[in-house]
Amino acid sequence: MSTRNHHPRRSHGWALAAAACITLGLGAAACGKKDEEKKPAKAAAKAPAKPKTEAAPAISGIQVLDAAKKFFSPLPERADSATNPITPEKVALGRALYYDARLSKNQDIACNNCHKLDGFGVDNEKTSPGHKGQRGDRNSPTVLNAATHFVQFWDGRAADVEEQALGPILNPVEMAMPSEDAVLKVLKSIPGYADMFAAAFPGEGDPITYKNVGLAIGAFERGLITPSPFDDFLKGNVTALPPDALRGLQLFIDAGCTNCHTGPNLGGTMYQKLGSVKEYKTEDEGRFKITNNEADKHSFKVPGLRNVTRTSPYLHDGSAATLDDVLNIMAEYQTAKGKLDDDERRYLHAFLETLNGTVDEEYVRKPELPESGPKTPAPDPS
Ligand code: HEC
Ligand code: HEC
Repeated sequence: MSTRNHHPRRSHGWALAAAACITLGLGAAACGKKDEEKKPAKAAAKAPAKPKTEAAPAISGIQVLDAAKKFFSPLPERADSATNPITPEKVALGRALYYDARLSKNQDIACNNCHKLDGFGVDNEKTSPGHKGQRGDRNSPTVLNAATHFVQFWDGRAADVEEQALGPILNPVEMAMPSEDAVLKVLKSIPGYADMFAAAFPGEGDPITYKNVGLAIGAFERGLITPSPFDDFLKGNVTALPPDALRGLQLFIDAGCTNCHTGPNLGGTMYQKLGSVKEYKTEDEGRFKITNNEADKHSFKVPGLRNVTRTSPYLHDGSAATLDDVLNIMAEYQTAKGKLDDDERRYLHAFLETLNGTVDEEYVRKPELPESGPKTPAPDPS
């Protein structure tokens, strides 16, 4: 046998092995390739368990950025809407209405009670006290960046922030106004609002309408956007995240958190079942209540994770008191990862910290509200 024959035979053997990789559907890693091309779903199912004791591995910001760009994008400057063009006048009106407790039955509860703009858009309560201290059964999500979500509420029952804003005003356990007319009666009794509505909705003969209340509050909410170091990173500044945050981001991708938490808000793009890989006990039927579709039982909108280290407690019912609690639940019940160790939790924390941003102080400052007039109804504590 001449040496010339060896070469072709070896290539042939290699080609066979490569063909086996393809036909047997072996994981890319088994075939000697980097596993970065795997689909997210597979990454979740096959993420190899890491040795638990080794020192923190070196990590490259450039490589992590490459992987991250497939799942995330920076926040927009504001969440524009084709159907509700944003104007300064509309925003000014929306800001006032957001802070105005006269939109509640006892004139003691405004949007800002449950979604505090100096508190990351939440009240940090398990459930929030509304009219007469009543509480609903769901946790108040943050209003910050919420306008970028594909739908509103845990179960998506409102299409956008404009529609959403009209719900709590009439909700008997929240602001408890008896009817749309009652709301308009209050607004029309406050002289300053006549000018503000006219400026916000020019050309409308009778601009103080319930729908316009939603449009104004919605326009204001569309500017509640909180860019953070993670956005700098996504825009190409690979040193914007410290090493532990990079490790957390890599883990977030490897564990398949990105199957659900994607987009500029790391969530708010789809519904998913709580307990998607392992049954999780929860009373709330979630999206099923809206669709009556069996497949939607215990499904919720995947929440966004911007500012999440500041918005405890967690989950639709506020049942996870700390971030560690909810990270453990996610790893075990939503991914094939299973339990997290201390290092992994620390890395995820470090990553999630980089999602904390601030909203422009001037933009969210409580304005001076127009004064009540002689016909403004008295508060009704009943
Ligand atoms: C008494 C507390 C309370 C008040 C007052 C209140 N909310 Fe909420 N808000 C909640 C709760 C609880 C939810 C979640 C309910 C659900 O999903 O079923 C929510 C949901 C939302 C959401 C959806 C966010 C998301 O990620 O889906 C937005 C936006 C919002 N509220 C804005 C407002 C605005 C604007 C007002 C004033 C008009 C307001 N809220 C008044 C408690 C409150
Ligand atoms: C299969 C989809 C899915 C995957 C995968 C997933 N999540 Fe979630 N995540 C959800 C859903 C749905 C919720 C809301 C569930 C609820 O409130 O009942 C949620 C909630 C959360 C919350 C709480 C947010 C809040 O404001 O209450 C955090 C934090 C979180 N996930 C982080 C993670 C991390 C970290 C991973 C990866 C280890 C992960 N998730 C994987 C679907 C998923």
